[in-house]
Amino acid sequence: MPGTQRDVTLRFLAEPTDVNFGGKMFGGAVMKWIDLAGYACATGWSGSYAVTAYVGGIQFERPISIGQLVEVRARIVMTGRTSMHIAVEVFSRETREETWGRTTQCLMVFVAIDDAGKPSPVPSFQPENEQEKRLADYAGRMKELSLALEEERNRWLKGEIPAS
Ligand SMILES: CC(C)(COP(=O)(O)OP(=O)(O)OC[C@H]1O[C@@H](n2cnc3c(N)ncnc32)[C@H](O)[C@@H]1OP(=O)(O)O)[C@@H](O)C(=O)NCCC(=O)NCCS
Repeated sequence: MPGTQRDVTLRFLAEPTDVNFGGKMFGGAVMKWIDLAGYACATGWSGSYAVTAYVGGIQFERPISIGQLVEVRARIVMTGRTSMHIAVEVFSRETREETWGRTTQCLMVFVAIDDAGKPSPVPSFQPENEQEKRLADYAGRMKELSLALEEERNRWLKGEIPAS
């Protein structure tokens, strides 16, 4: 039911086909998993199709080794009228061990899309505990920062930033 599924967790094995030139997990594969988990979370919350509008603050904190188990945790942290702000964290561990280590973290924005291809309203997300409130505040601050970055980007695209 829309407005009830607050989080989604996906698990994969880091396969040899996803190796990068340094012998570790290819960053593009990690980004694909992040997008998949965010998509599953956004469509679960909205009950409709959704597209990725923005990925911000992505940090690759440590590498993932081939053969490790990878867990991607996506959770709704804030909603607008048609947008869903989703925090995604990636963890990995050896299959024979128990301790997960965080490898990557980011915030994504998905927008719900109706059958006519237009943004459509989503159920409002209300934080229910201290951690959810902190995450919602964080997402709000990150949104303000991303608007400032977008202004700078638009100035650059319009050629308004002279060389120093
Ligand atoms: C995302 C998209 C639907 C927004 O369309 P739009 O015409 O800008 O729609 P609106 O202005 O009505 O904005 C809709 C919502 O998107 C949000 N949004 C749009 N661009 C955004 C951005 N860069 N960052 C964060 N939120 C954004 C708006 O804040 C708004 O949220 P709200 O309704 O909660 O206030 C459109 O830009 C799009 O289709 N982008 C391509 C998506 C895609 O193909 N993704 C996968 C490729 S990697």
